[in-house]
Amino acid sequence: MSSELHFQTKAIHGASAPDRETGAILTPIYQSATFVQHEVGHEREYSYTRSDNPTVKSLELALGGLEGIPRAVAYATGMAALSSLFLSLLKAGDHIVCSASVYGGTLRVLRKVLEPLAIECSYCESTNPSAIADALQENTRLVFIETPSNPTLRLTDIAAVAARVHDHGALLAVDNTFLTSALQRPFELGADIVAYSTTKYIEGHNSTVGGALLAKCDEVTEKFLFNRNAIGFIQSPFDAWLTLRGLKTLPVRMKVHSENAQAIAEHLEGHDAVARVLYPGLESFKDSELAKRQHLGHGGMISFELKGGLEAGRALMENVKVCSLAESLGALETLITHPATMTQAEVPREERLRGGITDGLIRLSVGLENPSDIIQDLEQALRASGRE
Ligand SMILES: Cc1ncc(COP(=O)(O)O)c(C=O)c1O
Repeated sequence: MSSELHFQTKAIHGASAPDRETGAILTPIYQSATFVQHEVGHEREYSYTRSDNPTVKSLELALGGLEGIPRAVAYATGMAALSSLFLSLLKAGDHIVCSASVYGGTLRVLRKVLEPLAIECSYCESTNPSAIADALQENTRLVFIETPSNPTLRLTDIAAVAARVHDHGALLAVDNTFLTSALQRPFELGADIVAYSTTKYIEGHNSTVGGALLAKCDEVTEKFLFNRNAIGFIQSPFDAWLTLRGLKTLPVRMKVHSENAQAIAEHLEGHDAVARVLYPGLESFKDSELAKRQHLGHGGMISFELKGGLEAGRALMENVKVCSLAESLGALETLITHPATMTQAEVPREERLRGGITDGLIRLSVGLENPSDIIQDLEQALRASGRE
């Protein structure tokens, strides 16, 4: 697809043309395990869905087109994508530097899967690019960051980190799940690899779990494809189709998620019961200058804490009616989550607290409802909890 098209147009038209046989405007769901071959020794492009599938490939071309690279690699889940990233690029004796502020599941796979395979992992606060530089070792092959981070919304300066990592001859991977390429372009800032849980904003409708990796260098993409086939991590055709459909509205959704979150963050910040609000679009946000420089919009994720601490937070989460108390993020419905007992439950408490995930921290994934309904819902839940 031509690179002069705007982002919104590419999101809708992707890499797919109407089906040659039928004219179907959407890529069909090729729900088939195997593909019949013409003759022995001359395989068609597709042979077996664990290796490659036309619907999955259509999603991969569309995702790649949005970030200016030939092809993404799509996975069954975000964690399958991250596991494939680590297993494709690291072997026993290698070292990875991971930001301490990342999704708890990422820390779990590094600690419980990679470290027992003799892959050395260091964790450091990537908000300070010098801390990353200090953690690099002679055997460091990969640096992994997540910005904004889940759930503390800490930002890492991608360009500053990329310069240090490249001076060292290692690769930089960025988990861009929170903002997506609609609002942040890690490749343009120097990243080598971009990772997604497509479960979140990319598919955007709470209908699938999925993941994707994109690499600037074709050789790295080949490694991902090899490993995906070898281990069997591929996304299912139906989930790829739903994700392709979700991708078409990504720019529009991200714009409204950002507008709604800004309105709700500003309201919460002015509320008597609220102790602090973390949202990159607020002037009070610690890294608001970096946010303005690095983001094209600030997305739909807010974290906040009530003056009444954990008890007040629990009462709020149990009294909401429009918001849903649930894991996950990035879809149409506003979800409210308690990171300490839900998404980061496996991270030891001391480490959690060091990373800013206090017991009373609440994470809000702002959906596409009218934001005044969400504000009213939060207000009534605060009243019902008797804490206002
Ligand atoms: C930033 C981030 N990366 C990766 C993942 C893992 O994705 P999945 O749940 O699709 O496996 C998550 C899940 O919450 C996430 O928030």
